[in-house]
Amino acid sequence: MQKFKIHLIVGARPNFMKMAPLYKEFKKNSKYFDVKLIHTGQHYDEKMSKFFFDDLGMPKPDEYLQVGSGSHAQQTALIMQKYEEVLLKDMPNHVIVCGDVNSTLACALDAVKLHIPVSHLEAGLRSFDKKMPEEINRLATDVISDLLLIPSEDAREHLRNEGIDENKIHFVGNIMIDSIVQHKDKALKSNILEQIYVKDSAYALITLHRPSNVDDLNGLNIIIDAFEEIAKKIKLVFPVHPRTIKNIEKFGLKDKVKSISNLLLIDPVGYLDFMKLQMNASFILTDSGGIQEESTFFNIPCLTLRENTERPITITMGSNQLVKLTTQDIIFKSGEILEGKIKTGQIPPLWDGKTASRIVDLFLDKFILK
Ligand code: UD1
Ligand code: UDP
Repeated sequence: MQKFKIHLIVGARPNFMKMAPLYKEFKKNSKYFDVKLIHTGQHYDEKMSKFFFDDLGMPKPDEYLQVGSGSHAQQTALIMQKYEEVLLKDMPNHVIVCGDVNSTLACALDAVKLHIPVSHLEAGLRSFDKKMPEEINRLATDVISDLLLIPSEDAREHLRNEGIDENKIHFVGNIMIDSIVQHKDKALKSNILEQIYVKDSAYALITLHRPSNVDDLNGLNIIIDAFEEIAKKIKLVFPVHPRTIKNIEKFGLKDKVKSISNLLLIDPVGYLDFMKLQMNASFILTDSGGIQEESTFFNIPCLTLRENTERPITITMGSNQLVKLTTQDIIFKSGEILEGKIKTGQIPPLWDGKTASRIVDLFLDKFILK
């Protein structure tokens, strides 16, 4: 019997922890599946890519497309050109993309145009904000995908409303939680707190990279002014995304940031170190998609610096709250947490560490044992 050939696509930081558990689960079933890992190279710095392969125990990708950075059109087009060559050479039976980055949409488009079925992992999330490049990637990927693997029931509703056939939708749970469950013990042993000289709960953890927050001088100034105030009460640990550090430098804000003595700027950290930093934080201030989910799983208060979220379950069930981009709002919401007004939550259904095995079971049912 010929094995069922699958490509798993990764490109940017939030893809690695989504595909690692799935890669391992398909490998366990290698009697049936021939699985390849394709890395587009959208993220390429060691700290945005290689660290994750090491921490998550993933082998080197089977194909590395080295696309690098560029405008949306340049990046998407280059991924499409390079991945099409791989597809024509390898002709897999199925391609799985995850999340909402440019690599997700570019590779899905390539595959469907060659009549290769596509699964979208983390389908159906919607912020209803088309100014976010990710929203365009989500909408476009979902409409061309054959299987829509959703992390929460609200996603089903969105897809139904867009006219997607119910039979294509499968509630498999949140794959990011599989990685947490698999790596939590190792993460607890990380010595990142000692390395940066901070103590448990004595700091707030910050990440920022959304263009809406960091691509203009005004937005960055609003945020940095808030940091100045909050840092009077608690240490701030800020692993800085490459987009953000470049903008801080471009807008001449480096000195202002450095003058805040209780604000610790560090390079992006690996997966295990970041998990340890999350688990021990007093609270998290972020605009990341994945961190909203991870903080809900850890039940750590999270302030999401955005007008909306495609992950509302982290608010209705979890420890997440939205915060507007004003200095007053950021200071006020942080102050509430520091005064003990803490929003706690519960773990949403099927965020249980078993999503990868549910997906492989689905593939066995649909394509192998049918
Ligand atoms: C991308 C995703 C975003 C995701 C984020 C996760 C899109 C449209 N955006 O945003 O959804 O939340 O990744 O981190 O796909 N750079 C480096 N080194 C790298 C990678 C990037 O220096 O390894 C710099 C480059 O100057 C680049 C900029 O960061 O132009 C932005 O990178 P890009 O991949 O275009 O978007 P992100 O902001 O990282
Ligand atoms: N992350 C990390 N190190 C960091 C910042 C984030 O390991 O310095 C992890 C985080 O735990 C989560 C993922 O990166 O698993 C989220 O990626 P990111 O915020 O870049 O993208 P988004 O989820 O917003 O698309």
